[in-house]
Amino acid sequence: MAIILGLESSCDDTAAALVTSDRDILAQVVVGQNEAHRPFGGVVPEIAARAHVQILPGLIEQVLSEAKVDIADVDAIAATAGPGLIGGVMVALMTAKGLALSADKPLVAVNHLEGHALSPRLVDPDLGFPYLLLLVSGGHCQLLEVEGVGNYRRLATTIDDAAGEAFDKAAKLLGLPYPGGPAIEQLAKEGDAGAVPLPRPLVGSGEPHFSFAGLKSAVQRAVASGDHSPADIAASFQRAVVDCLADRTRLALENSDAPALVVAGGVAANGAIRSALQHLALDHGRSFSVPPPWLCTDNAAMIAWAGAERFELGLCDDLATPARARWPLDPDAEKVRGAGVKA
Ligand code: KG4
Ligand code: ZN
Repeated sequence: MAIILGLESSCDDTAAALVTSDRDILAQVVVGQNEAHRPFGGVVPEIAARAHVQILPGLIEQVLSEAKVDIADVDAIAATAGPGLIGGVMVALMTAKGLALSADKPLVAVNHLEGHALSPRLVDPDLGFPYLLLLVSGGHCQLLEVEGVGNYRRLATTIDDAAGEAFDKAAKLLGLPYPGGPAIEQLAKEGDAGAVPLPRPLVGSGEPHFSFAGLKSAVQRAVASGDHSPADIAASFQRAVVDCLADRTRLALENSDAPALVVAGGVAANGAIRSALQHLALDHGRSFSVPPPWLCTDNAAMIAWAGAERFELGLCDDLATPARARWPLDPDAEKVRGAGVKA
């Protein structure tokens, strides 16, 4: 059994966790920076990086002391090495390198997306490879065939906005605070999801990808018209996103032999999305796995867990490993049409 310290600072959450290779979460803590970024309606990279520098060392001390683990008893130090806001990514990675060097421990440089991708296996011991993964976060919206640790085949991606980005932009149009996903989910509870006619870009299309830009423009028009309540717009928008995600995932399931459907990433915290995809999996005779909401949004337990999976396979990294702003899970995936080519 190995004990892994995981560190995360690639966006606006600072996090540390201690996780074992037999799925014990010994301690984990996440500190968000929502208040610092709220006046700007989105994450300001420089503010985020400075906050990570201030917050992270205390969080490492906190998880070690909560778990009553000495750094000498840790088997490896894992940190997100990308993709993300480069100034932030550097904070956890450089901290991990310093710890690895001073405590003479191996470093595991974790791809943040792999952290999300493997997170369901931390809490679901029955989830084996391969599985079909819907990865939905603030920066990504992809369908991937997960064949094993470090082995991903991208089946679909977004041709414009990511799913979380769509939630955040729609929330801004509705005057809701950042991050938009939880705010929209809350407001949608009071609204009628059938009230506002909104488009479902690419639904029914034979091409596998996602698109949300047209939906955002339609929300903008609905707000400007003054004909609808914010709650009705929020509920109708959320329903439209659910329909898009479910339809694209259905197409992927029809073309996949994977026995399980998995959803991960911050947007997978959304109750409507979780239940729609669970139904879809059952309808297609697949098992379904989604992490608890706290493990969907950014955290360090998923980084420690991905670190544990890699460490057990002997996949450790050199101290010269760079921080990367872009780092696709499937580097061989074809670029898709549209200008907004995402990693
Ligand atoms: O995975 P994550 O925490 O950070 C990234 O790696 O991007 O995802 C953050 C995204 C944000 O866009 C946020 O609005 C969205 O996840 N999100 C949600 C919910 N909670 C977070 N979207 C919809 N419903 C939610 N409950
Ligand atoms: Zn994330």
